[in-house]
Amino acid sequence: MAKISKSVAKARIEALSEELKRHNYNYYVLNNPVITDFEFDLKMQELQALEAMFPELVLPDSPTQRVGSDIEAGKDESQPAKEDAASADAPHTQRAVKFQQIPHRYPMLSLGNTYSAEEMSAFCTKLEAEQGQALEYSCELKFDGVAICLTYEDGTLTKAVTRGDGIKGDNVIDNVLTIKSIPRQLKPGSWPREFEIRGEIFMPYAAFEALNKEKDEIGEQPFANPRNAASGSLKLQSSAQVAGRGLDCVLYHMLGDGLPFNTHSEAIAAAASWGLPTSELSQVRRGAADVLDYISYWDTRRKALPYATDGVVIKINDLQLQKRLGFTAKSPRWATAYKFKPEQALTPLKSIDYQIGRTGALTPVANLEPVPLSGTIVKRASLHNKDQMDLLDIHIGDWVYVEKGGEIIPKITGVELSKRPDDARRPDFPTLCPDCGTPLVRDEDQARHYCPNRTGCPTQIKSAFVHFASRDAMDILAGDATIDQLYNLNLIRRLSDLYSLTKEQLMQLEGWQERSCDNFLDSLQKSKEVPYARVLYALGIRHIGKTTAKLLSRHFPDIDTLAAATIQQLAEIEDIGDIVAASIADYFANPDNLKLIEELRSAGLQFSGEGASAQVSDLLKGKSIVVSGVFSISREEIKALIEANGGSATGSVSGKTSYLLAGDKPGDAKVKKANSLGIDILDEQQFYSMIGR
Ligand code: IVH
Repeated sequence: MAKISKSVAKARIEALSEELKRHNYNYYVLNNPVITDFEFDLKMQELQALEAMFPELVLPDSPTQRVGSDIEAGKDESQPAKEDAASADAPHTQRAVKFQQIPHRYPMLSLGNTYSAEEMSAFCTKLEAEQGQALEYSCELKFDGVAICLTYEDGTLTKAVTRGDGIKGDNVIDNVLTIKSIPRQLKPGSWPREFEIRGEIFMPYAAFEALNKEKDEIGEQPFANPRNAASGSLKLQSSAQVAGRGLDCVLYHMLGDGLPFNTHSEAIAAAASWGLPTSELSQVRRGAADVLDYISYWDTRRKALPYATDGVVIKINDLQLQKRLGFTAKSPRWATAYKFKPEQALTPLKSIDYQIGRTGALTPVANLEPVPLSGTIVKRASLHNKDQMDLLDIHIGDWVYVEKGGEIIPKITGVELSKRPDDARRPDFPTLCPDCGTPLVRDEDQARHYCPNRTGCPTQIKSAFVHFASRDAMDILAGDATIDQLYNLNLIRRLSDLYSLTKEQLMQLEGWQERSCDNFLDSLQKSKEVPYARVLYALGIRHIGKTTAKLLSRHFPDIDTLAAATIQQLAEIEDIGDIVAASIADYFANPDNLKLIEELRSAGLQFSGEGASAQVSDLLKGKSIVVSGVFSISREEIKALIEANGGSATGSVSGKTSYLLAGDKPGDAKVKKANSLGIDILDEQQFYSMIGR
């Protein structure tokens, strides 16, 4: 770094420290980073270099001296306050999320990192010169998720704490217990009476894509990447919801007093033998050249893995030596990370389209000068929302960085200001719906703009039909093209119009034969049998996905009782947040929606029948069943099945309990009590056989 004066350095150190703190907050708390990891690391390196030049200027709370904090705002006074820290996962997390804060027994530190193979090599050669011999390193993938610290006592998981600020974190054990790969109880083995094991909770790409698809369908902002999705999910208030998120875990660091291992790899192998999830891709390598070989092997192959990785971590394998080397304030001296540079392309932004989605949400989409990136030609990229555009200060004509981080849609991650042309101009963010001209609105707590004209905006009308007809909803044989045709011929405007279509009208459609008309009409007829929960989903009420629709159908046996429910009554239901409750209440407050429901009811659709009172058998009559653990369906659904078959689902095991229905990882206390009272314990399959399912 060039020589600079102390006063210039002071100002720059202050500015960088502030900026890095802000980025830490965006990343760890809001799950919404606005710069790439690479840019962050560059700024951190600059700050480190300045602090090395002027040690007397290092600020006491410098980001180089402490790890970023994931602790919710308001609890961690060192972070700026924000009302709903978890709003990236709206709307279910809109209520205050409360986790117990627990101090870490050993501080939870970060790792030094580099993007340079030379520096990686130097890390090894320096240590080897000091020790006078070639050393063994455990080479591991660097999983891109959220750090977690698990404590096992007497073989049972007792705590699962996030990194927090490194000193204390949030205990998210209920959510962690929903992760299938994490055992509540270790397999028999010679595990220490008490130990900690740390690792990463992550969301595999497949689960991430499914979650974002669902979010998009119900009008919520998708997550930007799997890491943010994992982090947002782990901090959800409802464990039932977390269970559906497909999170996974890999553990990579064991800690405890007097652990009986000589090497790190031995400790991890032991953990695997006790049933803990570890990575099979770790390898012990000797010397710098071998470490670099592992890195270059995974630099390309990692793209085929079903989850995101952002580098390789190397750790001295010998635990004695690890102990001797110790830690700096922020990271161990016995480990470091090599980070893969994200594949990026730099290309001019030609224009921005503003698209209206099914639920009226407006999405800015960038049209780019086509550019090759990771094997495809990228022409379009998402810009998410106005806030994101403002943060990037994006101008039409700018050269922009595009990245594909495992996401389906590439995204713009930065602007190359040095290449900004003189005639670059700020985009005019629309104030009117590009489709129907209605003034756009922005919900206070959502980053997106919406067209509120749900019943008059052509795109929204057509999208509502496509959603209504989709397989998981009414399963009517009509996709985008058919809906377009019917709409353009003025044959459909309201959802109920579908049910008065005649064969003669359908025969007018280009390319339609008698057979296609019959099939279509047949599917319409069949849709009248579609159960109430799916009809509720098909209506396209904002924020009501399939799961919420099912939940509602169980709480409200018919649509009239649902329509009459107050926001308070709705919000009292477990798993229904304030925003969802408000959205339902809003929908039914609109007379036009009530009219539509009447029209659909007259057409013969099901608006009742699947509620809690809909009994299908007496097989469990008089039986009181306690449900505990994780099942292949939600606990809510299990309880509904019990009730539908005449039984009652109760909370705690007592002399009156008929059965304990135990899924994966049932509560210890419940199992013990059931055993002591001689109560039969059923597993999921036995329960299904019992009700003839
Ligand atoms: S070891 C004391 N091993 O990356 C250091 N960390 O950027 C213990 N990470 O804080 C960490 N994969 O959250 C370690 N195989 C791995 C990892 C890994 C991902 C995360 C971890 C760490 C962060 C550092």
